[in-house]
Amino acid sequence: MKKNVQPTQPYQPLLLRLLHGLTGLGVLGAMLTAAWTYNTYDGRWGKLPLPDNRAIEGIHGTFGLYTLLVFPALVLYAFHRGQRRLLQPDSLTKLTQLDQPIGWYSWGRLANSLTLIALTLAVFSGKMMDDTWLPKGELDHLWYSIHLIAWVGMGVRSPYT
Ligand code: HEM
Repeated sequence: MKKNVQPTQPYQPLLLRLLHGLTGLGVLGAMLTAAWTYNTYDGRWGKLPLPDNRAIEGIHGTFGLYTLLVFPALVLYAFHRGQRRLLQPDSLTKLTQLDQPIGWYSWGRLANSLTLIALTLAVFSGKMMDDTWLPKGELDHLWYSIHLIAWVGMGVRSPYT
């Protein structure tokens, strides 16, 4: 008879799954409406064939604000019960050990940590944005540049979730 067999642990505990999902929905909405806002008002690095939509900025702001409200709960979780999914003091030296599970865990921890930083930057710079800048054609504000860079950071991360 088997003894001490532990039931298989789910990959993500329920609370993490919940906070992750709620944040993910907001981020997805914010990123898609952000792309449309960029398309409508900016387009310096190319445009998609979407109709201009001056209402999209407000819709983006709503998704952004929703993300801003749920994301702190995910961060709290990550820093407490989710600590081991973030970078550890020795993580960077383990990145090359890809013949062992720790090498892959370390890459995952690095990705998780960088994502928290990128999204913090995105919501904070968003909060610093003025909703009149883009309609007035003012594209060279520092907070707008930071906001765009954070979006690229989140975009690079998205396919790996
Ligand atoms: C990961 C991507 C992004 C996230 C999470 C995000 C989040 C946010 C947040 C939290 C706000 C503040 C909303 C408020 O105070 O009510 C905001 C505002 C804004 N964002 Fe983003 N944003 C992202 C990408 C972008 C991009 C690429 C653009 C480019 C056009 C953009 C354009 C704006 C504008 C124009 C505002 C001001 C609108 C307003 O306050 O209603 N965002 N964003």
